[in-house]
Amino acid sequence: MTKPRFKHSERTHTMTTISIIGSGNMATAIGTRAAKHGHTIEVMSRDAAKAQAVADQIGDAVTVGTFGAPPAGDIVIVAVLYAGAVDVVRHYGDSLAGKIVIDITNPFNADASGVVTSPGASVSQEIAAAAPDSAHVVKAFNTLFGHVIARDKPLDVFFAGDPDAKAQVATFLESLGMRPLDAGGLEATYALEWAGILLVGLANNGAGFDLAFEATTH
Ligand SMILES: NC(=O)c1ccc[n+]([C@@H]2O[C@H](COP(=O)([O-])OP(=O)(O)OC[C@H]3O[C@@H](n4cnc5c(N)ncnc54)[C@H](OP(=O)(O)O)[C@@H]3O)[C@@H](O)[C@H]2O)c1
Repeated sequence: MTKPRFKHSERTHTMTTISIIGSGNMATAIGTRAAKHGHTIEVMSRDAAKAQAVADQIGDAVTVGTFGAPPAGDIVIVAVLYAGAVDVVRHYGDSLAGKIVIDITNPFNADASGVVTSPGASVSQEIAAAAPDSAHVVKAFNTLFGHVIARDKPLDVFFAGDPDAKAQVATFLESLGMRPLDAGGLEATYALEWAGILLVGLANNGAGFDLAFEATTH
């Protein structure tokens, strides 16, 4: 028998500009998927040549922004390594005022057996502390592998963070053909970071790297 699943809601999606900070695997995967679903993408990276290369790879609907300059998008995705994430947010400073900041980082230790952040304190909380008060920090995408995102298949995506931004983030995630599952407030982002550890642990111990989490009801 087919398991009952949560229903996708029927929202109308508005196409928006999404600014992505970073030029690595996740910037490319999320940018490609978002462009495919009609969004305009701005890529910004400390290495402008790398940002341009990602933009070229994604395709037509992409601009390259200046690293540290005000992002064009209302949604800004921080797609850099944890070691640089808080500094990057500080570098953007007031230009993130009023923006939705999506943190995708996993603060893994060297062998991905745990996190390097303090117990109970998440990267998203660190980012929220470094960002302007009016920025809305939400964690998403960190429990999905980049190459799985890139395949553009339907996916469940866990997210958590600032309640004021959740509806807009959920709409954006749905527009990518994902089912957004709200895990709670900013305090729940710590659990999402450990869910990243769980994903890699399962992948490394038999489940393989095509794995993605799905939630269901019984
Ligand atoms: N790959 C995945 O499947 C996956 C899944 C879930 C979450 N994540 C998270 O997503 C984030 C990006 O991962 P990725 O796989 O895209 O990594 P990646 O391919 O290694 O790319 C990392 C990006 O971060 C930038 N960066 C690193 N340190 C920086 C700093 N101090 N200041 C500014 N930029 C900096 C790099 O810039 P340069 O090129 O100039 O060094 C590069 O653009 C990470 O936090 C990771 O934990 C990854």
